[in-house]
Amino acid sequence: MGCNRNCGLLTGAVIGAVLAIFGGVLIPVGDHLIGKAIEKEAVIANGTIAFENWLVPGSSVYRQFWVFHVLNPSEVLEGAQPQLEQRGPYTYRVRYLPKENITENLDGTISYMLPNVALFEPDMSIGTENDTITCLNLAVAAVPSVYKNTLMQIFANSFIKSSKSTMLQNRTVKELLWGYTDPFLDKIPMVSNSVVGVFYPYNGTLDGLYRVYTGTEDIKKTAIIESYKNKRNLSYWEGHCDLVNGTDGASFPPFVKKDQVLRFFSSDICR
Ligand SMILES: *[C@@H]1O[C@H](CO)[C@@H](O)[C@H](O)[C@H]1NC(C)=O
Ligand SMILES: *[C@@H]1O[C@H](CO)[C@@H](O)[C@H](O)[C@H]1NC(C)=O
Ligand SMILES: *[C@@H]1O[C@H](CO)[C@@H](O)[C@H](O)[C@H]1NC(C)=O
Ligand SMILES: *[C@@H]1O[C@H](CO)[C@@H](O)[C@H](O)[C@H]1NC(C)=O
Ligand SMILES: *[C@@H]1O[C@H](CO)[C@@H](O)[C@H](O)[C@H]1NC(C)=O
Ligand SMILES: *[C@@H]1O[C@H](CO)[C@@H](O)[C@H](O)[C@H]1NC(C)=O
Ligand SMILES: *[C@@H]1O[C@H](CO)[C@@H](O)[C@H](O)[C@H]1NC(C)=O
Repeated sequence: MGCNRNCGLLTGAVIGAVLAIFGGVLIPVGDHLIGKAIEKEAVIANGTIAFENWLVPGSSVYRQFWVFHVLNPSEVLEGAQPQLEQRGPYTYRVRYLPKENITENLDGTISYMLPNVALFEPDMSIGTENDTITCLNLAVAAVPSVYKNTLMQIFANSFIKSSKSTMLQNRTVKELLWGYTDPFLDKIPMVSNSVVGVFYPYNGTLDGLYRVYTGTEDIKKTAIIESYKNKRNLSYWEGHCDLVNGTDGASFPPFVKKDQVLRFFSSDICR
């Protein structure tokens, strides 16, 4: 009985020791193997898992807008302070079309054009696209800065009057964001395109050229934008804000740490 018990203990100890050694070896080996597999699949190259997810972002991307509605338009036109009411969010699904004109370059980068498309998401919005908002008349408000010459301002004024435009206007959310034909600009013979909108033109246009790192040379740089429209800076802001820094917001490099800052670039706001 004593021997059996000892043998049992010994066998148990040996098995335990062997397992501990295996475990000790397998943890780093496993980590290494998994790391290698991720490094292989995370690279943006036709055929990898990352490429599929990169071509069309794997998760939906939404853009939300809030607008301010003027509650006291007639008082404002007589010089009172506007009383504003925030409306929204108006949610649009964006980036659901695959990237276009994809070219794999020899220097470890890949370039593409990003198709702009926006689809209204009623379930994620408060109100509809047809909600009418009383807001600033963008075209009329721009006159003093566009036409500095007094004579031109007098002409512009007569067009504003004849088109029955005022400093404020009623527009639907859809018109405001994506464009509408402005009656005042329509009257001015010098203006060839009288469509105004905060994001006009958007639907059906292409954004880019983007050139991003694929990660073949340095996995930490995967999806980071190398250049935008063949430039590293925007020539718009001062200092490092002017740099095109980070990814396009839909893909990020693997092995991101919890405390790491993720930067992304949005061409719509030039940041
Ligand atoms: C990926 O490669 C396949 C086969 O070479 C080709 O048919 C396909 O068009 C490529 N995909 C893209 C997005 O370039
Ligand atoms: C497609 O990509 C190439 C290479 O980056 C570029 O020269 C060309 O202008 C692009 N074409 C379009 C239609 O954007
Ligand atoms: C943009 O185009 C898509 C597809 O043609 C359409 O479904 C969507 O309603 C359009 N969005 C806007 C804001 O016009
Ligand atoms: C918004 O207006 C358009 C055109 O007037 C109409 O076709 C559409 O059904 C309206 N949408 C809603 C949610 O009322
Ligand atoms: C906007 O609509 C409101 C309510 O329908 C109306 O009282 C106001 O006069 C309109 N404003 C303009 C600039 O058309
Ligand atoms: C933008 O970057 C280029 C080099 O990439 C540099 O020559 C130029 O001065 C920069 N422009 C601004 C405004 O910072
Ligand atoms: C991005 O900006 C940060 C902060 O200014 C800077 O440290 C970093 O080097 C920049 N990265 C690139 C790729 O320019």
